[in-house]
Amino acid sequence: MTSVVIPVNSFDLVIFGATGDLAMRKLLPALFRRHAVAQIPEQARIIGLSLSKHTTDDYRTLATNALEKHIPADELDSELLSSFLERIHYIPNDVTDPEGWTELVDMLDQFPDRIRVYYLAVSPTFFGVIAHGLSNAGLSDGKARLVVEKPLGHDLKSAQQLNSDIGAVFEERCIYRIDHYLGKETVQNLMALRFANALFEPIWNAQSIDHVQITAAESLGVGTRGGYYDNSGAMRDMVQNHLMQLICLIAMEPPHDFNANAVRDEKLKVLRALKPIKGFDALNKTVRAQYLAGPDSPSYVDEAKNPESTTECYVAIEAEIENWRWAGVPFFLRTGKKLRSQVTEIAIVFKKPPHLVFGNLSTPISNNVLSIRLQPDEGLELELMTKEPGPGGFRLHATPLDVAFAEAQDTGRMPDAYERLLMDVVRGDQTLFMRGDEVEAAWEWIDPIMEGWEKSGTKPETYDSNSEGPTAAVEMMARSGRRWRKI
Ligand code: BG6
Repeated sequence: MTSVVIPVNSFDLVIFGATGDLAMRKLLPALFRRHAVAQIPEQARIIGLSLSKHTTDDYRTLATNALEKHIPADELDSELLSSFLERIHYIPNDVTDPEGWTELVDMLDQFPDRIRVYYLAVSPTFFGVIAHGLSNAGLSDGKARLVVEKPLGHDLKSAQQLNSDIGAVFEERCIYRIDHYLGKETVQNLMALRFANALFEPIWNAQSIDHVQITAAESLGVGTRGGYYDNSGAMRDMVQNHLMQLICLIAMEPPHDFNANAVRDEKLKVLRALKPIKGFDALNKTVRAQYLAGPDSPSYVDEAKNPESTTECYVAIEAEIENWRWAGVPFFLRTGKKLRSQVTEIAIVFKKPPHLVFGNLSTPISNNVLSIRLQPDEGLELELMTKEPGPGGFRLHATPLDVAFAEAQDTGRMPDAYERLLMDVVRGDQTLFMRGDEVEAAWEWIDPIMEGWEKSGTKPETYDSNSEGPTAAVEMMARSGRRWRKI
């Protein structure tokens, strides 16, 4: 099945922070790939902005280097590359200088009717400054779209400040808050699975589901990002955004329609129904930890260059959703760096049959598990109990029904999240973007946990590099009579 390409209207996409890592590693490769399938109209322009005094030619050279690094050589056809580079322009600009906006204004004014997208691939400390700069330069009318990305605040208060800074210039319908997890094909497939199949809805609740496990395990350490990461930690870097968005999509009620506000209203209800974890529960219902040095690899505190660091690079949480559908079903989340493997999955673990008709089984019956794999190898697996073949006795074993999406749908390469999200911005579709109130509700749940850690005066646990994580997380699970899935 070839994926359908629906061309978008012509646009000018302005990237602030055009020489930074996000632009080079994600945005330009994603745009190139959309160009390669002719989704982007010929007249559309990509305008890079940053402090560096480059010319457009210099920037095109930087873009070429980035594409050569991040796109496989067999996809980088030279004609495609040169037609893509023709779309790229560069303006050196200091966003803090009120006089520095003229060149951008002149360039955008050449095509006043085009869709304008401003992608702020810069530190959030500049979000407010840039939003006001755009407004003062007359570039923030109702057609313009502002794209921002995490960290969207450090806590509830700073997230509110940020929302109010950009909200003073751009209406909510013009603000696109990216969480790249929402652009992943498998995450959207979770919605297809739930809302396009009648099969699961009757059992998608506390009557049939024992618990849910969400795992985002990474095999790499923090590496050269140690300095940045030490001010953030796994809770802010992964849980507040990516994992909480996944909880929302698993737990939300079916929206009445697949439109941005209907979907986001339902997600918000889930966030608001999360049982607060505060005080002692912050230690009892969560585990935070740091990896130790391996035979050939440094420890977290070494990579962070901060021997006294109490920043967590692993978190496990037992969350609860206080509503009719989910009462009594724990949602276990875990994420960490330098773990045994690179696995991101959601596992819905169903209850066991209420009565066992097979009396003397040599192996116990295991729970049915529906696992939705985000990586590696995006797909679905349903673990069912089946009979072991052969006469004599009656032995059961768990058999997986496995569907790898790329294979099943024969689509070849799965598109990167940014390809989808960038085109959605141009189309003006906010369904896969976070609304301001969602971001704030997520912080409202996260803040008391982090306060609980801080007030306890305890230090993070430790775990061996390339392991499954700290023992304390296994113990937390065991207290609820359950076990983590293998990673
Ligand atoms: C980013 C985090 O948002 O997500 C990184 O800042 C993390 O620390 C990454 O490695 C994981 O994303 P993915 O798409 O590789 O699961």
